[in-house]
Amino acid sequence: MMTELLQDQIEYYRARAPEYDEWFYRHGRYDQGEEHTRQWQWEVQQVRDQLRSASGFGRILEMAPGTGIWTAVLIQIGARVTALDASPEMIKINRAKLLSDKVDYQLTDLFSYAPQRQYDMVFFGFWLSHVPAERLSPFLDMVQRSLKPGGRLFFVDSGKVDRSRSHTGTANLGGEMQRRVLKDGRQFDVVKIYYDPAELTAALRRHGFDIEVKATENFFIYADGLKSS
Ligand SMILES: C[S@@+](CC[C@H](N)C(=O)[O-])C[C@H]1O[C@@H](n2cnc3c(N)ncnc32)[C@H](O)[C@@H]1O
Repeated sequence: MMTELLQDQIEYYRARAPEYDEWFYRHGRYDQGEEHTRQWQWEVQQVRDQLRSASGFGRILEMAPGTGIWTAVLIQIGARVTALDASPEMIKINRAKLLSDKVDYQLTDLFSYAPQRQYDMVFFGFWLSHVPAERLSPFLDMVQRSLKPGGRLFFVDSGKVDRSRSHTGTANLGGEMQRRVLKDGRQFDVVKIYYDPAELTAALRRHGFDIEVKATENFFIYADGLKSS
């Protein structure tokens, strides 16, 4: 059951890849007017500025990079980026957009991934909210194993009050499940968890991170910290 759900989640993002950026750039079904877009961009800028506030990393591991929205920043602050995603369609778009010889793409299911080396930094954007609650602990252990002692962990995700969905037909199914609808009407069920920053901070600290999860005014949560042990 769980395996099937995680597979469906991959299928959803494979199918969504060509229209994914409309969400981030507030186009099409996500367009909620100029004021909304301005505020969204301002909050994105706050997160991006924080991400850029440290640089000079040797090797960065990006989990679930998608179309490369954040990979584009990571190649500015690190020498090499290893980008692990389970969707070949996402990887293709990312590669074509960035055209960077600093990025090594690997088609990988993160739920069966075992790190082969330790990185100076690990990043994931809008990924943690898709990790089922029962997998959070093993996932954070895996992140911990992927980082060198003192390495940097940074992530960004949807805020607890998600005002970002717009006219997309997304339905909350109860618990951690949502039904998503693509532009052509195809429907997929995915995990989507809106974390409380304080609760997530406590979970991360229990897993050996010196970190605090913060929230922007409306849309995002993000965290910038270190592997502490
Ligand atoms: C919400 S998107 C985030 C993309 C990008 N990080 C961003 O912030 O724009 C989720 C990404 O997770 C990938 N994904 C879904 N299930 C996965 C899995 N089991 N292993 C690796 N990647 C997965 C999808 O292909 C997609 O690129």
